[in-house]
This record gives sequence, C-alpha cells and structure tokens, in this order.
Amino acid sequence: MVARAVRQNPRLVLGLPTGRTPESFYHALVRMHRRGRLDFGRVTTFNLDEFTGLAADDPRSYRAYMHRVLGAFVNLSTSRVHLPDGSASDWQREARRYDNAIVRAGGLDVAVIGIGANGHIGFNEPAPALEAATHLVRLRPESRRANAYLFGGRPQQVPTHALSMGIGTILRARTVVLLATGQAKAAIVARALTGPVTTRVPASLLQVHRSAVAVLDRSAAAGLAAAATDSA
Ligand code: F6R
Repeated sequence: MVARAVRQNPRLVLGLPTGRTPESFYHALVRMHRRGRLDFGRVTTFNLDEFTGLAADDPRSYRAYMHRVLGAFVNLSTSRVHLPDGSASDWQREARRYDNAIVRAGGLDVAVIGIGANGHIGFNEPAPALEAATHLVRLRPESRRANAYLFGGRPQQVPTHALSMGIGTILRARTVVLLATGQAKAAIVARALTGPVTTRVPASLLQVHRSAVAVLDRSAAAGLAAAATDSA
C-alpha cells in the first residue's frame, strides 16, 4: 500500500512508527528500493515520536532506529526526514515547530502506526482525555518495558518522557494504516477495532476515521474472530 502510494505520488508525506512491529515493513520497502522499484527521493517522513533527554546522535534514539532500518538503505533525503527533537530544551517550542513542519508539508498523506498492548498509538497513552497536537508524554511503565530492548533490556534506562505526535495529527492523516502482529496484541486489537470508541483505548478512535486500514497477522487478528462469535 505504501509503495503504491509513493508511486502514485512521489512527493508523498508519510507518518512512520518505530518499534518491533514495523521492522519487516521497513525491510520490504528496502527490498523494493534495491530492486529499483521504489524511489524515496522526494518522499517526506514524519515520525510519530522520540524520547526526550537523549542526544540527537544517541544510538538508542528513534532517529537512530530509523536510520538503521530505512534511512541507511534508501534514497530518502535527510532534509525530508523529520522526528521530534528529543534533545530540545524547550519542548513546547519544539512541539509547535514539529506541528508547523507537518502543516507546511501539507499534512500526512499516509500514517503508518503500531499499537501498544495498552492501546496507545504514537505515545498517546490511555487517559480520560487526549492531546490533539504534539506534546510531552510521561511514559507508562508498560511502555518503558516495551522499549527496554533499545536500552540493553533495562526498562529503568528508558527515558521517562517522550515527545509524541498528537491524536489530532494522526486522525487528520488522509489514510491511516495500523500494523499489529503477534498474539500479545490480539486482545487490544479486538478492543480497538470492535469495542467502544474511547480515549481509554486511543487506537479505538481510528474507528471514526474515513480511511483507516488494519494490517494484522493471524495471531494479532485472533481476538476479532472471537469478538465476532461473541456478538453473533
Ligand atoms: C512507536 C510508537 C508506538 C509503537 C507501539 C508498538 O513509534 O509510536 O506506538 O508503535 O508501542 O510497538 P511494537 O511494535 O514494538 O510492539
């Protein structure tokens, strides 16, 4: 879907996730690029989030992750690759700068996102209310544990905060593609796609999006069959 979108619009503006789930998606993009079938030369990317308190060149940052899985292998122009600057001292200013850059680029054409086991998208964690714009987030313990693999397996080394794209920016993307794999995501995928729309499960807000697609492997989709049977 992303490759097709890039071929249709070489100036595509993409929202991109980090994490374990999208690794095979990035490998596929790299393979297509290597076979000469995908040109990123004019594509613009905006990542969903970045840890705060890490230097810009810290290998544990999401910027470094993106370079490792995609940037190092395709012809993305570095001036068109955007992540929030987690090392900024004035995070409010940085958040405004990031949102303005997204607006100037014309908004996100396709936002590819993952889902946390607690239903978060980006780092929009379950809460009574969600922020529309880029903002500072205090990471939940479960989100720090889920990111420990980038920090030598030590959750306490994971930064306590991150800058995250807001739910408004994600929902304004023309198309949203939600990726989920593995049995550990089955229950939350079922709640997000078939349960009530609630800020307690941020991904459930995608139910009201005009053009949202969930791409699931069988394990992550397992709870959907159960949900359908329950309601039958
Ligand atoms: C990462 C992000 C997060 C992850 C989610 C799933 O940029 O925004 O919402 O997509 O935590 O992470 P994985 O894929 O590691 O299970």
